[in-house]
Amino acid sequence: MLKILFTMSLIFSTLGHAQSISYERSLNYLLKNISPTGTKKGIVVASPSKYEPNYFFHWVRDAGLVMSTVFDLYEHEKRPLVKKDLEQRLFDYASLVKTLQRNSGFDHLGEPKYNIDGTPYTGPWGRPQNDGPALRAITLIKFANKLLDDGKVDWVRNNLYQANLNAHSPIKMDLEFVSHRFHYIGFDYWEEIRGFHFSTAMGQRRALLMGAKLATRLKDNAAASWYFLQAKKIEQMIEKFWNPNKGFIQATINQQGGFWKSQLDISAILGVHHGAYDNFYSVSNKKVVDTVIAIEKSFNQLYQINNNKEDLGVAIGRYPEDTYDGYHTNRIGHAWFLATFAMAEYHLRLKNELATNKNVKWNYAQLYKLLGLKTPTGSINISMTQEFILKSLDKKADAFFKRANFHAAKDGHMSEQMNRYSGFMEGAKDLTWSYASHLSALLWR
Ligand code: NOJ
Ligand code: NOJ
Repeated sequence: MLKILFTMSLIFSTLGHAQSISYERSLNYLLKNISPTGTKKGIVVASPSKYEPNYFFHWVRDAGLVMSTVFDLYEHEKRPLVKKDLEQRLFDYASLVKTLQRNSGFDHLGEPKYNIDGTPYTGPWGRPQNDGPALRAITLIKFANKLLDDGKVDWVRNNLYQANLNAHSPIKMDLEFVSHRFHYIGFDYWEEIRGFHFSTAMGQRRALLMGAKLATRLKDNAAASWYFLQAKKIEQMIEKFWNPNKGFIQATINQQGGFWKSQLDISAILGVHHGAYDNFYSVSNKKVVDTVIAIEKSFNQLYQINNNKEDLGVAIGRYPEDTYDGYHTNRIGHAWFLATFAMAEYHLRLKNELATNKNVKWNYAQLYKLLGLKTPTGSINISMTQEFILKSLDKKADAFFKRANFHAAKDGHMSEQMNRYSGFMEGAKDLTWSYASHLSALLWR
């Protein structure tokens, strides 16, 4: 028996794992969750799952992030028909945003989720969630800039950005909300904790900086300088999340109520991705690298599926103390696809930054630590070392893709979570954000 098992595992490991997830599949599954049957045009459901759990809603955060990736895919796409389809989705989303904002009133854009007919969800929920309008603004600004490049100035003015506040144009509404409300506490990405959050602040800062540029482009100069100044204030706040004693960037500061957390949380890295703009807290930032190292170490020890992993990367969850299993909040949390893909994306972005940005300092000791390698002693050949590090980052990114691939369905379907003991999928089926995070990471390859 043992011999058979041994032979089987040998075959298994030499054959590797069949390819299940792919660009085409994730794209296909993602698109199914935009304006599905019975929903208002432009609605992005978090998942098609209507019960256990019911995720058949439009979350402002999920939708903002998903549509940001749709924009990136649109730019990257070469096939005319697919490109046209992606573009139409962006137009649908832009027009839906008008409805959502009108339904929630000028001051209440922190509303976290909407019904599939575009009306706000009115049951009890963690409110407000101030990341939503920022993430949505980032997406719409990317789209607006592209349209302006193509000469569609009138369309942008009529549908996306107008200096006049009474026009209630989508980007302007979101930027006003962000610039006036960033110093109000709200719930985090995970809708659980009230306070200020690194991820939220990173998105808000980027939205305002991009907004300032767009405002300048559209001759709304007073607004441009207001947005810019508020972004600088957010920057000062962001410096407060670094915890020198713990050696990582905390997810939340000024927490009010809620439960105890170690504050080690993948949301910090999501914030780095979603807030990536200039080189502020970019992937090569020393504090960011330390945070990534701490996150990987923690989940590696925590989840059973991370034992004997051969060539699979570490399965990553939201935060170590998580008790949400995808159905109930008082159980035990598992690894998440989107968290694991965020790590793949991290290593690819870092590789790209080191390879292309001449101003970035190579911190060799820290990079070796990140890669789980011993720092070489004696004199080193710089160009060979750099090449080796870039290759290793690539390989490590690949291992995270392999991890997700290993737990996904054969045909590439992905839910929200991967059970930390059995490896089987858990939680909302076909989570739109799982696909978006896969595609977003792939675009860096
Ligand atoms: C609790 C989870 O932890 C949170 O992330 C989720 O959004 C809500 N339940 C609703 O599903
Ligand atoms: C739970 C996650 O914690 C939250 O970030 C997300 O918005 C919802 N699920 C919907 O996907």
